[in-house]
Amino acid sequence: MIELQNKIAELAEEAKKAELNDKAKLEEFRIKFLGSKGLVKQLFSELKTVPNENKREAGQHINSFKLFIEELFESAKDLVSEKSEKKEQIDFTRPGEAVLLGSRHPISLVREEIIAIFSKIGFVISEGPEIEDDWHNFSALNFPPEHPARDMQDTFFVEKGEKEMALRTHTSSVQVRIMENQKPPIRTISPGRVYRNEAISARAHCFFHQVEGLYIDKKVSFADLKQTLLYFAKDLFGEKAQIRMRPSYFPFTEPSAEVDVSCTLCNGKGCNVCKYTGWLEIMGCGMVDPNVLEACGIDSTIYSGFAFGMGVERIAQLKYRVNDLRLYSENDVRFLQQFKSAL
Ligand code: DAH
Repeated sequence: MIELQNKIAELAEEAKKAELNDKAKLEEFRIKFLGSKGLVKQLFSELKTVPNENKREAGQHINSFKLFIEELFESAKDLVSEKSEKKEQIDFTRPGEAVLLGSRHPISLVREEIIAIFSKIGFVISEGPEIEDDWHNFSALNFPPEHPARDMQDTFFVEKGEKEMALRTHTSSVQVRIMENQKPPIRTISPGRVYRNEAISARAHCFFHQVEGLYIDKKVSFADLKQTLLYFAKDLFGEKAQIRMRPSYFPFTEPSAEVDVSCTLCNGKGCNVCKYTGWLEIMGCGMVDPNVLEACGIDSTIYSGFAFGMGVERIAQLKYRVNDLRLYSENDVRFLQQFKSAL
């Protein structure tokens, strides 16, 4: 009897020490103590060997041990299932955390679109430096020495060693570099940033972006220029778009023209965007002046060509109706995120 009591005490001690913190350990515990061949069963079968007068008391001991084990098991089981329930509790109704996505800048979008349109008809991209010398920005482009564009008021001058350099005032400088380094036929567009010494306002900025176009070959005519620009306007603004050319002057082209596109808002009927003219100015163009061809080493008796230059901000302004130039460089997320779905 004492022996049985000691054994039960020992087993109770062991049961108390058992770590019952997961399902596998619980099951192991259940099999060991409460299983069909478990310790509780064994204790009951040992009752047979207990003398009759002690059977009742021994039975009570074993029974209360059995209850103790069952209780231990049940409460551990509750704890474990509570824990695993907590782990698996996922609230599917909770709103997700939004991933902040950036968007492309409107200037990049428009530049890419212009490039794509001219790429389709065989124009390749070329680039030049933003810090230019007088030759590439002015002289080779037939600017006379006293031309007002060379003035301090328009141009940012910088010193580079001995040489006076300037931040390029237009991407026409890339034309010169291409003609100096390549043999015709040449068909290229040059996107890039340009600088002018202007007070910043809604309508002017000290830097902006241009795309320059150049086509040099034998027998290139003004008709080719017109057709190329009409194709461009229709691709950019839609099939209904029309263009008109007004005579103008640039030192590097002769003849020169300014190009208008029919107002994209009122389709030429007249509105406040086109100032009731039905037309919007989009670029300058002309036939490359023979002086420029010669300055760049191209024989003007064999070759002719056309050139054009447009402001990317200007095109973006017409496409997206943004009429304050400053917005493009202020990096205001409220402005920028409006272009998320563009293109
Ligand atoms: N370079 C001129 C500007 O910045 C734009 C321009 C006009 C470019 C006529 C050309 C052109 O190639 O032919 O205003």
